[in-house]
Amino acid sequence: MSEPDIKKGLAGVYADVTAISKVNPETNSLLYRGYPVQELAATQSFEAVAYLLWHGELPTDDQLAQLRAVERATRAIPANVREFIDAMPTSAHPMDEVRTIVSLLGGFETAGIDNVLDAAGTPAENLDRSVRLFAILPAIVAYGQRRRHGLEIIEPKEDLDYAANFLWMTFGEEPDPVVVDAFNRSMILYAEHSFNASTFTARVITSTLSDLYSGVVGAIGALKGPLHGGANEAVLHIFTEIGSAENVVPWLDEALAAKRKIMGFGHRVYKRGDSRVPTMKLALDALVDHYDRPDVAALYDALESEFVSRKGIYPNLDYPSGPAYSLMGFDTLTFTPLFIAARITGWTAHIMEQQAANALIRPLSAYNGPDERHVEGYEPDA
Ligand code: CMC
Repeated sequence: MSEPDIKKGLAGVYADVTAISKVNPETNSLLYRGYPVQELAATQSFEAVAYLLWHGELPTDDQLAQLRAVERATRAIPANVREFIDAMPTSAHPMDEVRTIVSLLGGFETAGIDNVLDAAGTPAENLDRSVRLFAILPAIVAYGQRRRHGLEIIEPKEDLDYAANFLWMTFGEEPDPVVVDAFNRSMILYAEHSFNASTFTARVITSTLSDLYSGVVGAIGALKGPLHGGANEAVLHIFTEIGSAENVVPWLDEALAAKRKIMGFGHRVYKRGDSRVPTMKLALDALVDHYDRPDVAALYDALESEFVSRKGIYPNLDYPSGPAYSLMGFDTLTFTPLFIAARITGWTAHIMEQQAANALIRPLSAYNGPDERHVEGYEPDA
């Protein structure tokens, strides 16, 4: 038998079709249901983009109002869930906290389903579950940051839309429109990105006819790693290490000599620049002006130009979003949970797409262990 052709990391492999988004590295573009993501970020609310990802079309005014009404009605953390959150150590990494709470929500929401053949749920049930996760995640993420600082929970504000309410629940102040706009754009840019590691994980889990919560919990686990979502947190660790623009060159000399990966740069699919970066960079520029922090822009520009000129590897979305979230006042540890709050839309759209045309995902492996051998003393039964 000829040696199988292994695609390590599944690089370059098409695993299935999707109608949710299209990543085109040739044209450096990303389309959600056909719309360029930068057009959506400039014109739409995150709620409208969530609707688009789930339903395939942008909502009418009535459809958007309906989604917003459900989101507002289900955005608070119920008392029984709050008890579990409060039982977790505040030193737990927030990704572990959110992963655990989503699992708990699954236990509550699917209580009573006692036949595994019913685990996957109907399309209507799963749309409902997706909207409820989308609605409650901001409160969980915001409360996580507050708990780490010994602060009280802030209840949602009925008259605020998703982005403004998220910031309100985190900081307890009505946010400035510049900040709301930058935050809304970041949520839209993070919402969906085809078969990235976490989405693919969710699809693998879904393909066994498991439930939506299990798919999301697995996806959160995949997102946590610094080669994927954890990179936005890691970018800020790097910024803190470097300190200021003048230190970029010596810092980079040392980091590259030590063969360190520079977080926030590089991408498996885009090799000539991430399609989302220019839009997020504009949002970062607006925040730099708003908070009057030219030092952040100087460090950002210095590291980017030095690294790109030395290695020809371009920034990915985590590079501008890390400093943007930091300027808004989010803790470094909260950055990847913010990614969860955004990507829940893409993950759940993919889970429902997988369910609608399922095939168990079960690839092959080529064996490279010892040749067949036998346990000493073993006698086959006669
Ligand atoms: N810093 C230093 N070298 C790099 C980097 C980087 N950020 N990215 C790629 N390289 C080098 C790598 O060392 C390798 O060099 P060589 O061929 O000499 O061994 C070459 O480029 C190819 O890299 P690779 O890691 O084999 O390529 P990949 O397609 O598997 O990598 C990646 C994609 C995202 C894992 C990688 O670029 C990386 O580790 N980046 C840093 C982490 C990061 O920012 N992740 C976020 C990804 S995008 C948003 C998201 O999903 O959250």
